[in-house]
Amino acid sequence: MSQKKIFLVLLVISSVSLLLHHGGHFSWTLKAFLGCPALRPHPSAGLKPKHTSVAFLKTHKTASTTVQNILFRFAERHNLTVGLPVQACAHQFCYPHRFSRRYVHPHTTHPQIIASHMRLNASELRRLMPPDAVYVTILREPAAMFESLFSYYNQHCGSFRRVPNGSLEAFLDGPLRYYRPRDMDAMFARNTLTYDLGGEKDRPPGDVAYAGELIRDVERTFSLVMIAEHFDESLVLLRHLLNWDLEDILYVKLNMRSPGSRRSLGLGLPAQIRAWNWLDARLYDHFNASLWRRLDELGSACVEREVRLLRLARDRLVRGCFGGQLPLLRTSAQIENKELRPWQPSAMVDIVGYDLPPNGTRPGGQAQECLKLVLPEVQYSRRLLRIQSLRQRRASSARPSAPLRSTLARRRLHVGSARNALGPTLTQRAAGPQARAGALSRFSRRQLS
Ligand SMILES: *[C@@H]1O[C@H](CO)[C@@H](O)[C@H](O)[C@H]1NC(C)=O
Ligand SMILES: *[C@@H]1O[C@H](CO)[C@@H](O)[C@H](O)[C@H]1NC(C)=O
Ligand SMILES: *[C@@H]1O[C@H](CO)[C@@H](O)[C@H](O)[C@H]1NC(C)=O
Ligand SMILES: *[C@@H]1O[C@H](CO)[C@@H](O)[C@H](O)[C@H]1NC(C)=O
Ligand SMILES: *[C@@H]1O[C@H](CO)[C@@H](O)[C@H](O)[C@H]1NC(C)=O
Repeated sequence: MSQKKIFLVLLVISSVSLLLHHGGHFSWTLKAFLGCPALRPHPSAGLKPKHTSVAFLKTHKTASTTVQNILFRFAERHNLTVGLPVQACAHQFCYPHRFSRRYVHPHTTHPQIIASHMRLNASELRRLMPPDAVYVTILREPAAMFESLFSYYNQHCGSFRRVPNGSLEAFLDGPLRYYRPRDMDAMFARNTLTYDLGGEKDRPPGDVAYAGELIRDVERTFSLVMIAEHFDESLVLLRHLLNWDLEDILYVKLNMRSPGSRRSLGLGLPAQIRAWNWLDARLYDHFNASLWRRLDELGSACVEREVRLLRLARDRLVRGCFGGQLPLLRTSAQIENKELRPWQPSAMVDIVGYDLPPNGTRPGGQAQECLKLVLPEVQYSRRLLRIQSLRQRRASSARPSAPLRSTLARRRLHVGSARNALGPTLTQRAAGPQARAGALSRFSRRQLS
C-alpha cells in the first residue's frame, strides 16, 4: 500500500519535472497558468487564436524600435502583411506629415500589422487597418526622453543647433530663445509624444482642458499604452491582450546609444524638462498610472512570474543564437556586416548595434531568426518590402484567367497613378510656398542613408 503511494508520488514528480524541463512551450504555458488563475476567465481561454491585426504607433526615442522588431518578426512568422511606407516617405510614413493612406506602399495596401513611424491620424489609420485591429503605443518618461532627443537630434533640429555649446542646461534656461515652433523639425524639441499622437505640441501650459481631451483621445484609440521604463511588464500586458505566446514577445534591445553618448541629468533639470514638455508629462503620468492599475488587476505575483519567464526564455534564445551571451555592442563603423549597421543621426552620437561573429550563426532557418533579432529598423523594413513585393508578384502571375489578369493590370495601373499622384505632391511642395514640407521629406530621406 505505502509502496504504491511512494510509487505514485514518484511518478507525479517525474512527470511534472519532465514536462517542466522538456515540454518547451507547453511547460511555459503550464507554468504561466499555474501562477495566474486570473488569466483564465473561462476554461478555453488558452485555446483562443492569436490576434493578428495590430497597429503600433511608433513614437520617437521610446524603445519603440524594439517593439517594432517584435511585430515585424511576428508578422513574418505568420505570413501577415505589414503596411510599409512608399519610397518617397523613406522608412517612415512621411513623418512629420500627418498619416495618410497615400503614404502606404501599393504592395502592402491591406496590412494586418503596421509599426513604422507616423504622426497619427486615427480616423485615417482606421480606414486602412482591419476593423478588429488592436491599437498599441509606447511612452517614455519625459526627462530621460528629452535628454535622448536633445543628444540624438543635436545636429538636425534647428532649435537645438542654436543652443551655445550644445548645452542642455542653456536650452532649458530659456527654451523660447532657441525654439521656433515652425522649424521643420521643431517636433523633436517640444512635446514629441503629443505630436506623434496627433496632438498640438504648442498648447500653452495650463490648458488643462486640452490635456484632458488629448488623454481621452488616446484612451479611445489605444487598447494598450506601453511604458518604456516598465518594458517587460508592458510586454506581459501586450501578450495577454493579443493572446500571443511567450516566444512571440522575445526581444533584444535595439537602437541604443553607446554609454559614452548618454549623460545623467543634474538636479532640477527633470522638473525643467517636464515643465517645457508639459503635455508629454501629463500623458506619461496618466498612462503610467493606468499601466500599473492593469498590472495590479493581473496580480503582481502573476506579472512577476511572467516577467521572470520572459527573461529566462530570452536568455535561452540569446544563448542559442549568439553562444554564451549577446554579441558585443559595437559602434556602426565597427560593424562589418553592413546589413546590421544602425542609422547614425550625427557624428556626435553613437548608435550602437550588434555584429554577428562569423562562427556564431546557427544552421539554416535558425540563423535567419537570429539575424532578424538584431536587424536594424531600416534594413528590416526593406527586407519586408522585398518579401511582400515578391509575394504579390507571385500571386498575380499565378492567376490564370484572362478576365482576372485584366483586373490585375487595371489595379496595377491604378497603383502606378497613385504613386505618380504622390510624387509630384511632394516635389511641388518643395518648390512652392510650402518649401518647409519638401525640406522635411528630404530630412527623412537623409535618415535613410
Ligand atoms: C507561410 O507561407 C509559407 C510559404 O508560402 C508556408 O510554407 C508557411 O506554411 C506559411 N506559414 C504560416 C504560419 O501560415
Ligand atoms: C484625418 O483623416 C480624415 C479622414 O480619414 C480626414 O477627414 C481629416 O481631415 C484628417 N485630419 C487631419 C487633421 O488631417
Ligand atoms: C561655451 O563654452 C565656452 C568655453 O568652454 C564658455 O566660455 C562659454 O561661457 C560657454 N557658453 C555658454 C552659454 O555656456
Ligand atoms: C510608474 O508608476 C508606478 C506605480 O505608481 C511607479 O512605481 C513608478 O515609479 C512609475 N514609473 C516612473 C518611471 O515614473
Ligand atoms: C567564435 O570566435 C570567437 C573569436 O574568434 C571565439 O572567441 C569564440 O570562442 C568562438 N566561439 C565558438 C562557439 O566557436
